[in-house]
Amino acid sequence: MRKCLKLLLSINFGVSMKTTISVIKADVGSLAGHVKVPKELIEVCENSLSQALKEGVIKDFYIASCGDDIDLIMTHDKGEDNPAIHELAWKTFKAAAELAKRRHYYAAGQDMLAEAFSGNVRGMGPGVAEMEIVERPSEPIAVFACDKTSPSAFNLPLFKIFADPFNSAGLIIDPKLHDGFRFEVYDVEKNMRILMSCPEEIYDLLALIGMSSRYLIKRVFKKDGNLAAVVSTDKLSKIAGRYVGKDDPVAIARAQSGYPAMGEILEAFAMPQLVPGWMRGSHRGPLIPVSQRDAHPTRFDGPPRIIALGFQVSEGKLLGPVDLFDDVAFDYSRRKAIEICDYIRRHGPFEPHLLSPEELEYTTLPLVTEKLKGRFEPVGKP
Ligand code: F6R
Ligand code: MG
Ligand code: MG
Repeated sequence: MRKCLKLLLSINFGVSMKTTISVIKADVGSLAGHVKVPKELIEVCENSLSQALKEGVIKDFYIASCGDDIDLIMTHDKGEDNPAIHELAWKTFKAAAELAKRRHYYAAGQDMLAEAFSGNVRGMGPGVAEMEIVERPSEPIAVFACDKTSPSAFNLPLFKIFADPFNSAGLIIDPKLHDGFRFEVYDVEKNMRILMSCPEEIYDLLALIGMSSRYLIKRVFKKDGNLAAVVSTDKLSKIAGRYVGKDDPVAIARAQSGYPAMGEILEAFAMPQLVPGWMRGSHRGPLIPVSQRDAHPTRFDGPPRIIALGFQVSEGKLLGPVDLFDDVAFDYSRRKAIEICDYIRRHGPFEPHLLSPEELEYTTLPLVTEKLKGRFEPVGKP
């Protein structure tokens, strides 16, 4: 009935149908340590989402993986935070986790922090990036998935894409981009958020998002209110109160016709920025843009990596994907990243390869330093 009404409205009054893109990810077990999602776990997810497709719960899906994380990319018409979609993701991951446990895959069920589903996967372990949009006549999007890093890895590239004309030529050249964008930033310490407008507030925005361990870009909007990008900002350690694996993030960005061109979006990843999350979630390393083929981090459990999948969203269907970093033009970025790996690895257990004490709070390091506490004595006046 609701569907018929929606259809009638769209025909008679020109009301555009909305499509929701939900990207929900979790690490439920992997092969040979934290390296790669086993094929049979992907197959379990495929069966689960195929069934949901048949039942009309979702309109389309694609399952990707980056390292030890499974990324469910789904389209539907139910809006963001929809219980049916979140339950589907939860059940899908649960089924994969059960097989992972039976087969003794590594860290089986790692990100399934809750016993039972309670309406929304947020706060239960999986990471979520969702976007409800009115499809444009042609709707290109990029879906990003990372491994061995945290949501802060998107601060720098999203700033470049939506606020830096040295990255995105369209901010100057295209009148449809010239007004700039608004950034929604989360303070993950205080659980607060702020909306900031660029280019007007570029310096203030940078004053916050440069401190990327605390301030995270959650969403980017066009000035007319349309959503441009969204990142999963779920922090596993904050949910569990201890180190349980990392918050390897996912993100969605809209491209072209009033949004940055796909190439402007990808250009922001050509510089292999240093991000946290390498080895034991305790080290900084360069974020390498790789093809799906190379999304299996092995060297020192890394280095951190990111894949990008390009789709056309077409009446709720996902056409594609294009494996966007599978381009020789990113070879130099990859080589550069590997050089940085060699350099930074030589710091061994020292900062800045090692994260700062605040960032290490939720790793296993405090368990080691704790036992030295009683041996400290006051230094006295210098
Ligand atoms: C997991 C990760 C890895 C692990 C490391 C130790 O995504 O980043 O670097 O932290 O392999 O893992 P455990 O403690 O499971 O032996
Ligand atoms: Mg893992
Ligand atoms: Mg991972």
